[in-house]
Amino acid sequence: MSKQTSTNRITTAVIRDMKKKNEKICMLTAYDFPTALIVDEAGIDVVLVGDSLGMVMLGYDSTVPVTMDEMIHHTKAVSRAVKHAMVVGDMPFMSYQVSPDDALYNAGRFLKEAGAQGVKLEGGREVAGITRRMASAGIPVVAHLGLTPQSVHQFGGYKVQGKEEQAAKRIMEDAKILEEAGAFSIVLECVPAALAKAVTQSLTIPTIGIGAGVDCDGQVLVLHDMVGMFDKFIPKFVKAYAHLNVQMKDAVSQYIEEVRTGVFPEKKHSF
Ligand code: KIV
Repeated sequence: MSKQTSTNRITTAVIRDMKKKNEKICMLTAYDFPTALIVDEAGIDVVLVGDSLGMVMLGYDSTVPVTMDEMIHHTKAVSRAVKHAMVVGDMPFMSYQVSPDDALYNAGRFLKEAGAQGVKLEGGREVAGITRRMASAGIPVVAHLGLTPQSVHQFGGYKVQGKEEQAAKRIMEDAKILEEAGAFSIVLECVPAALAKAVTQSLTIPTIGIGAGVDCDGQVLVLHDMVGMFDKFIPKFVKAYAHLNVQMKDAVSQYIEEVRTGVFPEKKHSF
C-alpha cells in the first residue's frame, strides 16, 4: 500500500514488489472508455492500450499500419476511465525505430498527452539504448520479446519464437540486457514455457506471459479475445471467458425483429 500513489494507483514499484511477493500480475488490453472502466473496476493491475487495437478495433490486417495519433487517441480515452490500474501505451511500428530522439519524443507523448504511466516497445538488444534513454528520462518501459507482432513480415507469420537453442539463448540474453537498460517488466509472447520459466527465474523484474506458460510473473491477454468479442482469429493461448459476440448478435437480431414487428418501443419507452 505504501508504494501506491495518493490516488491508490498501481505503480512500477508495486509491480516489482508483486514479483518479490510471488503475487501474479494481471494485465489486459483496453482501447476505449467503457471497456477500460470495466477492467479497472474489476481490479486489473495493468491496462495495456496495445497496438493490437489496429486489428481488433480498426480492422487492419496487422499492427504495422497503426499510427502514433491513433494510439494517443485511444490511450486518452482509456486514461479518462482508469483510476487504479497502471496504464501502459504501446509504441506503434516506426515510432521508436527511426531515431532515438523520435523515440523519446513519442514515448513522452503517451505520458504528457495521453495520461499513460508507462510505454511498451517491442524488440531486444536493438532497443536497449532507447529503453535506457526513456527510463532515465522518467518513462517506465515494458519490454516485449518473443513473437513481436510488428515484425510479422520478418518472421513470415505469427509463429512461436525461441524454439531452437540459439534463438532461446538470444531471448534470454535480450531479457538480461533490457533489464539492465531499465525496463521494469518484460512481456514474453509465444515462447516455449520452459524458456519463459528460465527467463523469469533469471530476472529481478517481472515477466508477463502471453502464450508463454504458467511460470511467468503475470499474464496478459487481448480483452476482446478473452470475452469472445473478436472471433476472426483465436490463438491457441486464448481462453474465452465469455462469448459476447454471440450475445451481442442475438441482442441485435432481437432488436431488429422487435422494431420490424412493432414490439419495440413500448409505452414505457415513450414520453
Ligand atoms: O498489442 C498488444 O495488445 C500486445 C499484447 C498482446 C501483449 O502487445
